Order: sequence, then C-alpha cells, then structure tokens
Amino acid sequence: MKLQELKRKGYTIPGRNLIKTAEQIEGIRRACALSNEILDIIDERICPGMTTNEINQIVHEYTIKKGAYPACLNYNGFPKSVCTSINNVICHGIPDETVLKAGDIINVDVTSVLDGFYGDTSRMFIVGEASLEAQKLVEVTLECLNLGIEQVKPFNRTGDIGYTIEQYAKKHGYSAVREFGGHGVGLKFHEDPWVPHYGKRESGMVLVPNMVFTIEPMINIGTHRCRILGDGWTAVTVDGSLSAQWEHTVR
Ligand code: MF3
Ligand code: CO
Ligand code: CO
Repeated sequence: MKLQELKRKGYTIPGRNLIKTAEQIEGIRRACALSNEILDIIDERICPGMTTNEINQIVHEYTIKKGAYPACLNYNGFPKSVCTSINNVICHGIPDETVLKAGDIINVDVTSVLDGFYGDTSRMFIVGEASLEAQKLVEVTLECLNLGIEQVKPFNRTGDIGYTIEQYAKKHGYSAVREFGGHGVGLKFHEDPWVPHYGKRESGMVLVPNMVFTIEPMINIGTHRCRILGDGWTAVTVDGSLSAQWEHTVR
C-alpha cells in the first residue's frame, strides 16, 4: 500500500483522525455552505459608510438564526463573531466602529459551527472603487488560492501547495505571509496539518483522500513580515503595505 510505503520512508502521513468519514465530510460541507451563504449576504450589503461592527452583527445574527454558532466568538478569547481585516491588516482584524470607506479592501473571514462541524472560508471585498494596485493584489491573491487548490491531489504534499502559491505571488512582485497558514478543519477549528503558503515542493505532510483542510493565502504588496497589534490579535504588515487573503476549505 502506497501510504505505508511512504511512512516507512519517513514521510509524515496523516493520522486516522485527519481522514474524514463520508458523514463527517457531509457535515463539514453543510457548515461551509452556511459560511459561504453568510458571505453572500455580506457581499450584498457591504458599502462605504458601514462599520465592521455592523458586519459582525449580520454574521452573528444570521449564524444563530440558522441554528449554528460563530466559531470565532470566544475562540482563545477572540471577542467577536467574525474577522474583518482592512487594507494593511493581514488577518484577525477585530470588528469595531471603524467605518468602511470607498477604496478600502477588506477580508471577511467566517467560520460556522453547524451540528458540531466547522466550515471556514473568507473572501475579499472591494468597497466602492479601489485603486488598480489594490484590485490587482486582490485578483492575484485569488489566483494564488486557486493555484494552491489545483495542487490538492492524493500523494502531493502540503509543500507543493505552499511552493505554488509563493512562486505565483513572487512573479507579481508580492510576498506570501509565513506566520499564518492553512490548517486541517472539520471536527475542530484548527487541526493538523499546517498548510504553508510558501516553501519547497516535496515537503510537509502527504495529502491523502478525505483529509479536509483550508488554504488561505495572505499576500502582501511589500514585505511578508508582520506584527501583532496591542489587542493581541490584529496582524498587520510591518511596512504598512496592502495585504489580501482568500480562504477555502478543501478535501
Ligand atoms: N478563521 C481564521 C482562520 O482562517 C481563524 C480566526 S481565529 C479568530 O483560520 F479567533 F481570530 F477568530
Ligand atoms: Co478563516
Ligand atoms: Co482558516
């Protein structure tokens, strides 16, 4: 059997808990569908003048109405139901009274827990009309996600995903954030493996059928380096450059 062969050769292969049953995959799919539906609502409603607290309220209320729970709320002390990351914020922005203005780019990252299953997905939104520079970053980052997804096939490895994403970002003069990565997801918010958005081919965990994990590249116009603000969550680019992120849960 190929997997055992790989294990003998010293590769990291997923443990049994990372390989989901058909029932679990169906549950995770439903949670993802709900998160995606919530992002559709945000897409309809987002506009200049709105606060990130208002986005939080829409996400929170709709999640509860659907009989689900927002995974972010109280997760390791995170105070809100969704992450909203504007412009130079890489990820984990906390909703507050910040008002969206035309030209902002914002990532809204929704994770719903439905019947105990986690569905984690995020999108970029362009508020009003953004600069060409910002639009291009958003588009290239989406392409990074899609190219990463194309690498998801049995017996590829997490490093193949990271390598492909980083190389494409670099081709456009951008950098891929290293401190945060994709992750196994489904029965818990964050499971193994860790999925880098940079690195080398033929490194990291071997991918096998029915694993479920996220790919969520964060791409910066400037340096990949980040720092965390005093709130303990908000990750920003050290050079103040724009950052974009798209996230998908895949299997
Ligand atoms: N949804 C984020 C991710 O993609 C995690 C957010 S954790 C929070 O992994 F606590 F900041 F909400
Ligand atoms: Co997320
Ligand atoms: Co995630």
